[in-house]
Amino acid sequence: MSDMRCDIKLTVNGETVVETVEARKTLVDFLREDLALTGSHVGCEHGVCGACTVRVDGVVVRGCLMLAAQCDGATVETIEGVSDLGEIADLQSAFEQRNALQCGFCTPGMLLTAQELLKNGGVPSREKIRAQISGNYCRCTGYQAIVDAIEAVAQARNGARR
Ligand code: FES
Ligand code: FES
Repeated sequence: MSDMRCDIKLTVNGETVVETVEARKTLVDFLREDLALTGSHVGCEHGVCGACTVRVDGVVVRGCLMLAAQCDGATVETIEGVSDLGEIADLQSAFEQRNALQCGFCTPGMLLTAQELLKNGGVPSREKIRAQISGNYCRCTGYQAIVDAIEAVAQARNGARR
């Protein structure tokens, strides 16, 4: 059973990927080990810390709680792809300007989780921002600067739409 393998075909950051993977391999391990996309991190490996956050079919998920085999036919986006598209350039810049990252381990997951909220539009309350990132652990910043950065980007995007 442990060496069972599956053929999968999916889209990762806009490119078609065809691979044979171990049935038990997680999505985040597949991205990191087979595709060298190491922007998604591995922390707790059981769905608690959010370091492994990626998007599957447009929705943020825990890469450690999904198997690569479950992504057959899916569209996967990692921090590398989302960054390259410029979709979160303002968020990345705000994190840097406001010291919302230190070691950076949590940052890819934090950015994707923040974008999930901000793409709904409007300016969420700080409580709502905190609730949104409550599943993404940061051991460095104390969160205040992260909330500040997300709020500032929400305000800027909202202002830009008026
Ligand atoms: S490594 Fe996936 S939630 Fe922590
Ligand atoms: S910046 Fe180090 S864990 Fe968040």
